[in-house]
Amino acid sequence: MKRCFARGLSLTLAAVAWLSLSYGCGRQDTPGGTQSSSGAVATQPAAAPGGPVRIGHFASMTGSEATWGVSTDAGVRMAVKEENAKGGVNGRPLEVITYDNQGRAQESATAVTRLITQDKVAAVLGEVASSRSIAGGQVAQRFGVPMISPSSTNPKVTDIGDMVFRVCFIDPFQGYVCAKFARGEPLNAQKAATLFNRAQIYSTGLNDTFKKHFTEMGGTITTEQAYADGDTDYSAQLTNIRATAPDVIFIPGYYTEVVNIAVQARRLGLTVPLLGGDGWDAEDLKNAGSALDGAYFCNHYSHDEDRPAVREFVAKYQEEYRRIPDGMAATGYDSAKLLIDAMRRASSLAGKDLAAAIAATKDFPGVTGVITIDAQRNARKPAVILRVEGGKTYYTTTIAPPD
Ligand code: PHE
Repeated sequence: MKRCFARGLSLTLAAVAWLSLSYGCGRQDTPGGTQSSSGAVATQPAAAPGGPVRIGHFASMTGSEATWGVSTDAGVRMAVKEENAKGGVNGRPLEVITYDNQGRAQESATAVTRLITQDKVAAVLGEVASSRSIAGGQVAQRFGVPMISPSSTNPKVTDIGDMVFRVCFIDPFQGYVCAKFARGEPLNAQKAATLFNRAQIYSTGLNDTFKKHFTEMGGTITTEQAYADGDTDYSAQLTNIRATAPDVIFIPGYYTEVVNIAVQARRLGLTVPLLGGDGWDAEDLKNAGSALDGAYFCNHYSHDEDRPAVREFVAKYQEEYRRIPDGMAATGYDSAKLLIDAMRRASSLAGKDLAAAIAATKDFPGVTGVITIDAQRNARKPAVILRVEGGKTYYTTTIAPPD
């Protein structure tokens, strides 16, 4: 597992590509110290008083969901760079240490263990996928070190315990948002079919909450079809769906799956709109070509939302990285900003004190919305719906939590 320091490091696109490459081949550890971007060698344990305050990040820097790790890390590092320019925390600079979990749950537990026991991080950020946040969160809870997930939406993540937080909404709300959008303009769907990944807790959970809300809102579920991790042929499930003549197909999966599903659906003559959740968010959606034209998905933010916080963030990110920030870049940025705000308010950086400060967060002005951490350590805030067209996404509407 390779570790990366980038205190104040400005990442260009080329640097991001280099970082992902170096994570990919970085299996060997560097005992006794690791090269930092400033050229200094850090020895263990290094979280000395007066030294840098360390923030750990575990992420899919490589693997099939690498865009999530790379985007989140870019957001985290931009936030830390900004806060270091403001003097860090109590006069101490902040340092991010990122470990690649290659998109695996087991590697997530290993990464968090190492961040806490060897690198002595004050807090951990991660992950995107709920299954990996659950694996990492159990470790953080056991060691009493706070962890904030930027974008994992399954309720079980923060159910782990009082050390695990998130800065995003949860799937019971996301299912409601998708159902409400499906029932209203422009889809006006009466009948929905669903196609979900039975091996991902995110996918099964979101499928269930969508079904619950869609039927409560007067709609009918024509069929629920499932697939497994690694499947690439969805024609049997799509043929079953076609026979039930739905008005919309709800696909609560991850983007790699969605691209294949959309292409195969169109090939089978299914022309109805496709609808999904935040798991669709990735530039690689463009790989579906025109198969996703007219599809919609729920997300944490949209780069073209007309809000000052979004405009400012997009401009800064583009200057830093020369590309448009996706949802993970924004949630990664918010998770680091909110953590650093709590560090400044905490009576100490010890796990319990820092967790108390995170839990007390109220009306924090995030890019993805105003964040208040609730009693279950989740964030309550609106979601956006994006439309896909020509491989690009366009802001469509915002849906707020019901009262
Ligand atoms: N919410 C998804 C999960 O919990 C992960 C995700 C977040 C994917 C944001 C894409 C964008 O598994």
